[in-house]
Amino acid sequence: MIPFNKASITDVEVKYVTDALLNGKSSGDGKYTKLVCDEFKKRFGIENILLTTSGTTALEMASILADLKPGDDVIVPSFTFSSTANSFMLRGANPVFCDIRKDTMNIDETKIEDLITPKTKAIYTVDYAGIPCDMDVINDIAKRHGLLVIEDAAQAVGSKYKGRYAGTLSPFGCYSFHETKNYVMGEGGGLVINDASYMDRAEIVREKGTNRRQVLNGMVDKYTWHDIGSSFLPSDILAAIMYGQMMRYDEIMEKRMTVWNRYAEELKDLEQSEKLVLPIVPEYVDHNAHMFNIILPTAQIRTDLVAKLKANDVYAYICYVPLHSAPLGIKLGYKPEQCPVTEDYGERVLRLPLYADMTSDDTSKVIELIHDILS
Ligand SMILES: Cc1ncc(COP(=O)(O)O)c(C=O)c1O
Repeated sequence: MIPFNKASITDVEVKYVTDALLNGKSSGDGKYTKLVCDEFKKRFGIENILLTTSGTTALEMASILADLKPGDDVIVPSFTFSSTANSFMLRGANPVFCDIRKDTMNIDETKIEDLITPKTKAIYTVDYAGIPCDMDVINDIAKRHGLLVIEDAAQAVGSKYKGRYAGTLSPFGCYSFHETKNYVMGEGGGLVINDASYMDRAEIVREKGTNRRQVLNGMVDKYTWHDIGSSFLPSDILAAIMYGQMMRYDEIMEKRMTVWNRYAEELKDLEQSEKLVLPIVPEYVDHNAHMFNIILPTAQIRTDLVAKLKANDVYAYICYVPLHSAPLGIKLGYKPEQCPVTEDYGERVLRLPLYADMTSDDTSKVIELIHDILS
């Protein structure tokens, strides 16, 4: 069986988890949480990152810190995971769905300004398939209209936009370290605070609304309730898995890239014969080989391909179901035709199996099957 994804776990992760269990602290903010944050600083130059229990809760923290309230509007692509929209809807804010670009399937920055009204407070961008959005353009729009930008970089750890790391491109960057991502801690995430003025409040929000972090840092001797918040910090045992992954950062990236590059090279002929479209990576992006997506000519061809791959024990995945035309989107008053590109691509995109430990034979098998089925 070739799954669409499989976490790469070795003796390295086992060693750190065992140490965390036997010698460390099973609650949050222990030695391994600090080591992971130090790695993000060393590798990506990130000064302020707070580990969270998921990418979802990183987004929820960002939405609290953004002070979003009932009556506020937030511009967000419809082609994303529910968590992007849920995070600010839990604050009472409304989603205003924006269509996507045909090349990257990221938010179409040329359509954002038409959606801005006096109620608009923020733009949430999503780095789909690990490919950052055109953030210079988006940040410029936000600046001109006084809006906050929150980057959902759940899939984009290690990707770069014009040489700058995804997650560092706006005041808040949200990473996911879920088992399906490049670097995993089971369930986990990180909130990158690029505007340091939010940091003090972020530490309080993450610790159930208390200044407990200041006690741990020896700044005060007892902690009290200061703000709203929740329990957003992960167990240090999970951080130990993530530390192992960070120690294997280059190895995991290179192995994923090998599979990604083989798909790109060996499926090229099918693009030339118009059987599928391969991923398009803008020249300003260095991607992290998070996903390899193909676009099929019709929804029916995708359905048939998924079924035939599955009959051969290969599991391809259909990615996101657009939010605006999902049951909740319809309840909010959206019509499928309001984001036509999202609606169309959402039915035709297919994510191929891709993981660090995918063998060369398994990659060959997927490539050969796709040729056999589509030719
Ligand atoms: C774009 C995006 N945002 C947020 C999330 C949520 O991350 P997590 O599963 O870590 O909560 C995901 C997860 O797949 C995602 O793809």
